[in-house]
Amino acid sequence: MSKPLRKVVFPVAGLGTRFLPATKVVAKEMLPVLDKPLIQYAVDEAVDAGADTLIFVTNRYKHAIADYFDKAYELEAKLHAKGKEALLALVQGTLPKNVRAIFVTQPEAFGLGHAVLCAKPVVGDEPFGIVLPDDLIWNGQGKGALRQMAELGDEQQAGVIAVEEVPHNETDKYGIVAATAIDERSARIDHMVEKPKPADAPSNLAVVGRYVLPSRIFQLLEQTVPGAGGEIQLTDAIDALLKEQGKVLAYRFEGTRFDCGNKAGLVRATMHMAMQDPTLEPTVRSFLADL
Ligand code: UTP
Repeated sequence: MSKPLRKVVFPVAGLGTRFLPATKVVAKEMLPVLDKPLIQYAVDEAVDAGADTLIFVTNRYKHAIADYFDKAYELEAKLHAKGKEALLALVQGTLPKNVRAIFVTQPEAFGLGHAVLCAKPVVGDEPFGIVLPDDLIWNGQGKGALRQMAELGDEQQAGVIAVEEVPHNETDKYGIVAATAIDERSARIDHMVEKPKPADAPSNLAVVGRYVLPSRIFQLLEQTVPGAGGEIQLTDAIDALLKEQGKVLAYRFEGTRFDCGNKAGLVRATMHMAMQDPTLEPTVRSFLADL
């Protein structure tokens, strides 16, 4: 049996400008897909992978995330007094009892790589996961994407990065990997290119928001100079890891990814989840037919 991935980092200190004005006060990660905020889907996936320590890299506008995972004394007491046990279980179930949440601050949005580096003192010296909550990956009752990756990483003793095929004309929106296939889902990364033009892209395998990495990545991040947009890029540090260790894997996960960092993706995710819910599906279907 493979070792569980105990620590997972959630970099949630971005500005979320694509959802302004809502994100003036509502953290992007608190936007709901039906009745659950994006961050809950991300946490559920990390817990499914075996995590017991969740590290949220936040900023001063994101207190709602800490509040969401905290105890809601008054609400819980009221629900209990009214005998609303099912609702009470929902409120209390945001974080399993054996799982702890730790919050660290990224003082300024210096990029994803910098956000991950802020988690260094908490992660220590063991492989860890990174989940970007705005990439919602849904695999129904099957294994979550992070668990699939943790198992592969443990088996192969290597870092694993989630990839997905994207349309060729969209390579300039993603980190793209050139990789040599091992089997139908995994491949050894040869090199990575940040946002290449379609004509220059070595493939259409795009990096998406799940990573399993060794703690060595922190030293490499410390040596990483600001790249595209003046930000410290995680991709640059992974490229350095690849050069040093010679083996980082790309993994085509089982499941569907919704890019909820933009409006169309959030709508798609909401529609998908609504169609999976037998109490909503007929209403949504007839509403769509009317439209
Ligand atoms: P995005 O590129 O989606 O940026 O960040 P953003 O600020 O969240 O959203 P837009 O583009 O302005 O709408 C990818 C992930 O990296 C985190 C974000 O919170 C998100 O989970 N991030 C990014 C940080 O935590 N800190 C940063 O400095 C940058």
